[in-house]
Amino acid sequence: MGVDSLGYVALNVSKIGEWSVLMEQVFGMEPRPRDGAIDYRLDSYHHRFSLYPSDHDGVAAVGWEVGSTAKLEATVAALRTRQIEVTPGSAELCAERKVKQLYSFICPMIGTRNEIYYGPLTTNTAFTPRRGISGYKTGTLGLGHVVFWVADLAASVKFYEDVMGFNISDYIAWDDNDAVFMHCNPRHHTLALMKEGPGAPAGALMHIMVEAQTADDVGYGYDLVRDLGIPVMIEPGKHSNDHTQSFYLQTPSGFWMEYGFGGREIGPDWQVTNYDAPMLWGHRFVGG
Ligand SMILES: [Fe+2]
Repeated sequence: MGVDSLGYVALNVSKIGEWSVLMEQVFGMEPRPRDGAIDYRLDSYHHRFSLYPSDHDGVAAVGWEVGSTAKLEATVAALRTRQIEVTPGSAELCAERKVKQLYSFICPMIGTRNEIYYGPLTTNTAFTPRRGISGYKTGTLGLGHVVFWVADLAASVKFYEDVMGFNISDYIAWDDNDAVFMHCNPRHHTLALMKEGPGAPAGALMHIMVEAQTADDVGYGYDLVRDLGIPVMIEPGKHSNDHTQSFYLQTPSGFWMEYGFGGREIGPDWQVTNYDAPMLWGHRFVGG
């Protein structure tokens, strides 16, 4: 029971032109347009992001990957035991997501549409980035991580532990923030949950993180973001818990993306700790 990695993220976006600039010129991802939407490839998977033109902005679906049908069915059974409505994905939706089988449900804690799937379509042809980057650290670590604000932090953590199969990596509490970091594979965290607050409504996506193969990919990306006039929200720095070196930018949809490098992984001797600051150095809020 439980998921193995973050597989994909689908987004509704009101400014797909600005998103295209971000995804291609900054992140070097490979666009795969279809029926008005755009899928983006960044590794051996057919795609990891899908952007749907919309009159509003937000998460359309978070795709969680499992490695077997048995694990898929066990997780669906665990959801249904909790009276959560789980819907089998149609053949059309599986074809759109490029997976063998999936189920969807509305997360009772975050409110987003979750999809659990197995059997992603992959290719052996090389990823051809739109700028000279080394690529992304994915594989068994998954796409990266997502961070959401929630109303009930303790209950949300328990749901993702008991039903979705996550384990707690560590905690950070600073200023008025309260965050729990959770893993489902060696990536330090695939999901982080934060207590809602002023300007941080429950259910909203705070950011999506993607991890580069080299520090230079991130460094050149930072320069491109500055040159393109894309808002930098947090300056380059290094996190206290996962040791990722990264910066944060604001997407055309309002939520942020973190572009990082060098995150440490969860090992067998991992000890859960509680940090009093999110950064070792840098990571200054812009204007703060
Ligand atoms: Fe992050």
